Amino acid sequence: MATAAAHRTAGTEPGEAAHPAASSARTAEQQTAFDEAVAADERIEPRDWMPDAYRATLVRQIAQHAHSEIIGMQPEANWITRAPSLRRKAILMAKVQDEAGHGLYLYSAAETLGTSREELLDKLHSGRQKYSSIFNYPTLTWADVGAIGWLVDGAAITNQVPLCRCSYGPYARAMVRVCKEESFHQRQGYESLLALSRGTEAQHEMAQDAVDRWWWPSLMMFGPPDDESSHSEQSMTWKIKRHSNDELRQRFVDICVPQAESLGLTLPDPDLAWNEARGHYDFGPIDWTEFWDVLKGNGPCNDQRITQRRRAHEEGAWVREAAAAHAAKHGKATA
Ligand SMILES: [Fe+2]
Ligand SMILES: [Fe+2]
Repeated sequence: MATAAAHRTAGTEPGEAAHPAASSARTAEQQTAFDEAVAADERIEPRDWMPDAYRATLVRQIAQHAHSEIIGMQPEANWITRAPSLRRKAILMAKVQDEAGHGLYLYSAAETLGTSREELLDKLHSGRQKYSSIFNYPTLTWADVGAIGWLVDGAAITNQVPLCRCSYGPYARAMVRVCKEESFHQRQGYESLLALSRGTEAQHEMAQDAVDRWWWPSLMMFGPPDDESSHSEQSMTWKIKRHSNDELRQRFVDICVPQAESLGLTLPDPDLAWNEARGHYDFGPIDWTEFWDVLKGNGPCNDQRITQRRRAHEEGAWVREAAAAHAAKHGKATA
């Protein structure tokens, strides 16, 4: 931790006089130290003073991210029992378990901001906090597992690599580990789609159909266009976000087009074309009506996902109780 940290670490000590004028001068000093630390690319750590709105933004973003990891287990878990070979089954089980692990790192990161996991899960189950809308689409065929790995995990990496430099230390560090695993997920999806694309005619068609269905929702994963994104600007100032939604979406398109060519598959957008002047691929308009509709709860699987999540939580109550009882017993024994 850098030298500026000393000024921003200490809060009001017990017994310290809480004179209103003194305390507002102290807050101004802490705000300055915080701003300087962010400007100098230093990390903000859990014990450091931070503005309430910064804390609230992080809790909202990390919670949504954590929820997406665990809800995201459902569409792919749907195919574990029907994986076409033992090898594919082992890979898919490992991937789905990784996503549970990502959820755990992220709920832990949120806990460092003073929010309990129970509280966040309760908000997810009661619909007061959201998860990524991409997981409200169904996985209709085995090829969807490949398309999700390639496109959905691919989009997640594009979003998350810059988060490794996020100003909040615990979130940034969680992202380093998550990104390493996500890149494996992306590659296994690509490899699985490649096998299908080069397989029989029916397998090739199945791969193409999956890409046709997942392409546009993947582009929507980057969130609304910059001019409609309510949280973006402040998050950029705080260095929680490093790039805008549209920048990241463009980066993703530029990565995917040559990969689709190598896969021997087409992307379902007649407007996709290399733009020499911009040095990027142009792409067609996104159907934002669909995005807002799914976000409001009207996607094909919204109800199913949250019902299954609530049921899993209720059915897992005995595991949490047993773990707590074991920890209490163990604690007593060591004492
Ligand atoms: Fe993940
Ligand atoms: Fe993943």
